[in-house]
Amino acid sequence: MRIFVTGARGLLGRSLLACSQSPTTEVVGGARQEGLIGDTQIVGLDLERPETLVAAVEQTRPDAVIHTAALTNVDRCETEPDYARRVNGDAVTALAEACQKLGAAMVHLSTDYVFNGQAGPYAETDSTRPLSNYGQIKLDSEVPVLAMDRGIVVRTLWLYGHIDGARRNLVTWPIESLARGETLRIVDDQWGNPTSATDLAAGLIDLLRAGAQGLFHFGGTAFMTRLELVQRIAAYFDLDASNVESMKTAAAGQDAPRPLRSGLRSDRVSQTLGRTPLSLEEGLAVLAKQPQFRQDFGPLLANA
Ligand SMILES: NC(=O)c1ccc[n+]([C@@H]2O[C@H](COP(=O)([O-])OP(=O)(O)OC[C@H]3O[C@@H](n4cnc5c(N)ncnc54)[C@H](OP(=O)(O)O)[C@@H]3O)[C@@H](O)[C@H]2O)c1
Repeated sequence: MRIFVTGARGLLGRSLLACSQSPTTEVVGGARQEGLIGDTQIVGLDLERPETLVAAVEQTRPDAVIHTAALTNVDRCETEPDYARRVNGDAVTALAEACQKLGAAMVHLSTDYVFNGQAGPYAETDSTRPLSNYGQIKLDSEVPVLAMDRGIVVRTLWLYGHIDGARRNLVTWPIESLARGETLRIVDDQWGNPTSATDLAAGLIDLLRAGAQGLFHFGGTAFMTRLELVQRIAAYFDLDASNVESMKTAAAGQDAPRPLRSGLRSDRVSQTLGRTPLSLEEGLAVLAKQPQFRQDFGPLLANA
């Protein structure tokens, strides 16, 4: 199987590159900057110019595209709605059309922000009601993919992992701050499930191998607040959490509203794959063994 991964330099894209090269699977990446990541060829593309996505698909002729590239800054999607619609909406439509024309499967990543966060965790059958532009545009972007013969939409949330040069995320940022003895202010009114990017990447490949089609939720098997997440990270890595203070989301002054009691139920994906997504502690164990994490965080944790 030949897979084309967009967003190849992002957290999920890099996790896919790391887990999917095998004797039976060939991976080609797509990103704004072309070149090589390790041994993987990276083709240039820009979500602002849909024709570059179509050209990349025609050039690489994959059996499947996994579309991870997106504007993931939720507040920027709120303040720049036209730009967000072009890169997170129009680009997906163009890619879905190109895949359908070629007969390729497509996996598209969506989000729990399609829900309003009053009654999570949510199943695929629950009613959507986005609070933000990011959530609304992602919801709209699901439509052309679900209309494909071989389209898969995977809603996920709270992704964590560590790759070379990656920005910090909701697990690696607390590890770094706690190890340095900094004071952290963490919201205690946002609920969700932390999801290992490595585990999700493997799940996406498995969905393709299973010939799946339609809408799936994929969230780690543990539902908690952001505050509890940090406390459990501290316990796992034996870090002092006495400098962790709680706050409310409303006090953060963010441009886009957040769904509070959110979270995703992964029953459908578990039935399809015959396994559940990793729990938080299982995901942290996978992360802690990864060479890049040991190289970048090992000295910090040893000094903590
Ligand atoms: N992270 C989460 O917690 C989370 C939660 C729910 C859903 N998701 C969805 O899961 C997917 C993967 O998320 P992630 O965490 O891996 O995101 P990420 O680390 O922010 O990576 C996104 C990638 O998209 C690329 N990109 C952005 N604008 C682009 C453009 N105009 N042209 C080409 N590439 C562009 C970025 O490229 P550069 O490196 O060049 O900036 C980046 O590599 C996204 O669709 C996201 O919406 C993520």
